[in-house]
Amino acid sequence: MKVALGSDHAGYAGKEVAKQVLDRLGIPYEDFGAQNATEPVDYPDYAQAVGTAVVTGQADRGLLFCGTGIGMSIAANKIPGVRAAVVHDAETARLAREHNDANVMAIGARNTNLDLLPNLIETFLTMAFAGGRHTRRLEKIAALEAASHPHHPQSSLLALKD
Ligand code: RB5
Repeated sequence: MKVALGSDHAGYAGKEVAKQVLDRLGIPYEDFGAQNATEPVDYPDYAQAVGTAVVTGQADRGLLFCGTGIGMSIAANKIPGVRAAVVHDAETARLAREHNDANVMAIGARNTNLDLLPNLIETFLTMAFAGGRHTRRLEKIAALEAASHPHHPQSSLLALKD
């Protein structure tokens, strides 16, 4: 398991807490920035770096932080093969894995209690996709993606891992 991490300035504090959590869990990660909370940057740049790392196999999962998690999720989901979910707590982290096989978790550092991050991250990284009826639904999402990106190499891939 290797994790790709990214944030904008508004999510920077969340990303730094996530690094401490991953260090404690002994899970390797790559930090794609941002470098601080003071210099305004654009969240799509970091969503692109983390989403690309995940769909190319450089990382198994991505964790993205912005103010609300919304901008990061919208941007990451433009990358074929990314299934990014905005997650608020351990319950939504579990469901994002079990039902949606999310490979990227987007978190709003300004509206999520960062004390929840250890539970939320561990849940997201350990829960398996439940399969069953959810597989059919992910196949329909993959078909939507393939129709929108017919020539993209990732568009026809639906890696329902673990
Ligand atoms: C930055 O101010 C803020 O818009 C961004 O972090 C994010 O919340 C957007 O969705």
